[in-house]
Amino acid sequence: MTAWSRAARARGERIAFVPTMGALHAGHVALLAEGRRRGDRLALSIFVNPTQFGPQEDLARYPRDLPGDLAKAAGAGTDVAFVPEVADMYPAGFQTTIEVKELSRGLDGVSRPGHFAGVATVVAKLFNVVQPDLAIFGEKDFQQLAVVRRLVADLAMGIEIVGLPTVREPDGLAMSSRNAYLSAGERARALSLSRALFAARDRAAAGERDGKTLVDGARALLDVDRLDYLELVDAATLAPVADVAGPAALLVAAVIGRTRLIDNVRIGA
Ligand code: PAJ
Repeated sequence: MTAWSRAARARGERIAFVPTMGALHAGHVALLAEGRRRGDRLALSIFVNPTQFGPQEDLARYPRDLPGDLAKAAGAGTDVAFVPEVADMYPAGFQTTIEVKELSRGLDGVSRPGHFAGVATVVAKLFNVVQPDLAIFGEKDFQQLAVVRRLVADLAMGIEIVGLPTVREPDGLAMSSRNAYLSAGERARALSLSRALFAARDRAAAGERDGKTLVDGARALLDVDRLDYLELVDAATLAPVADVAGPAALLVAAVIGRTRLIDNVRIGA
């Protein structure tokens, strides 16, 4: 992989990179399309990273479809797919972890301890192997995008990070590889996430500035089995905000049946 990148860079080509865990859907394909537009060469990685899953999480059943993924990647103009094995990424003796401290603590960091250290470490390693000029991430994983931006700035990695809006199903459900776990009934209830977020966004657009009013209104619309968080935060720092004074985002994580879903909308931007 690195030899391919060095050769491309030696020819003066700009490498765009889209890291994924596979089970590609239209959200991933949108990132690839943007990479195709912005780069001379487009690299994709597919790696279900074990270190970002907790012991009780869905690593073992995470959906995998390498032939389908490679077909979609080719259709989106991908030049190279990097598909390492766990032993390639974490050979015996591996012992380094990168932690983006404060940004990793709240929100998903509470329900998924260690998750963002796993993400930051694997993304840093993927960047070192692929050596891209730019990398493209989805706003669907809002906190992850903030963590990656911080990582790249703090360690002076010199990689441009591009964030793209969440791609949704026609009815509003945010596309996710984990949607494959949902039964028909669960999928109907999963729609309550985007509906609740959109309701808050629309109230804010109509002039409502009070955070508690917006969050309480959204919470009342949720039909979930466990709510991990529903929080109004500053869009840049992810610090909780009491009212909408500048660019903010409303972030939700909830479990429906056995499936944990996340979603978010920008508010007041
Ligand atoms: P994964 O969940 O496969 O997502 C890969 C990329 O696709 C991420 O940047 C994510 O935000 C983006 N994405 C997912 N659903 C999207 C949607 N509906 N619309 C737009 N973009 C979407 O995120 C990971 O993998 C991993 O944590 C990874 C960064 C690869 C590190 O292991």
